[in-house]
Amino acid sequence: MSFIFVAQLFAIFAFATCGGYSGQLRISVDCMEKASSNLSIGIDFAYPFRLYQVSFEAPACEGMRRERVFLIGDYSSSAEFFVTIAVFAFLYSLIATIRNHNSRHEADFVVTVVFSFMWLVSSSAWAKALSDVKVATDPDEVQLLISACKDQTNKCGSVHGSRWSGLNTSVVGLKNWCPRRVG
Ligand SMILES: *[C@@H]1O[C@H](CO)[C@@H](O)[C@H](O)[C@H]1NC(C)=O
Ligand SMILES: *[C@@H]1O[C@H](CO)[C@@H](O)[C@H](O)[C@H]1NC(C)=O
Repeated sequence: MSFIFVAQLFAIFAFATCGGYSGQLRISVDCMEKASSNLSIGIDFAYPFRLYQVSFEAPACEGMRRERVFLIGDYSSSAEFFVTIAVFAFLYSLIATIRNHNSRHEADFVVTVVFSFMWLVSSSAWAKALSDVKVATDPDEVQLLISACKDQTNKCGSVHGSRWSGLNTSVVGLKNWCPRRVG
């Protein structure tokens, strides 16, 4: 496999999974006082996963009062680092495609080594951030942030969690791919 091919695959993967990701979880808050319940609260989040900026309104289960709740955490540095490396890999691969292939092999080799290293660092940082994002957006964890849910007389539940299939691939796939220089 040539470096150019791998770099392009990496870039497409990173955009399709991390950079392009948006997810939604949905929870229910069933107050003892039924009228104030909301059985379907949707919470949307997306790249770059600055979760502390993501908020939603939950019933306070006291009359019609509601409270604004914020998710916890900021995973943007790992996510942006991962996508930035992908952007550079993609740009470099474009330049390499249009350039004379017989020249500057030394430079190609150095760039490939640097990218391989950055790739490992960025994908492992992102793998760690991703597992934290999964916990922070787990409906069971999010319920703990809602005051009304701390009161046993109200019932809180998870309607659905976020779908992670695309993101799993981004991390799993990267572990198996390292850029290799051919020719
Ligand atoms: C429940 O919460 C959603 C926001 O996720 C809101 O759009 C909807 O109007 C709320 N429903 C009630 C009955 O308050
Ligand atoms: C994604 O990973 C989680 C654990 O982190 C696992 O429970 C889930 O089944 C995986 N999904 C896919 C589609 O592989």
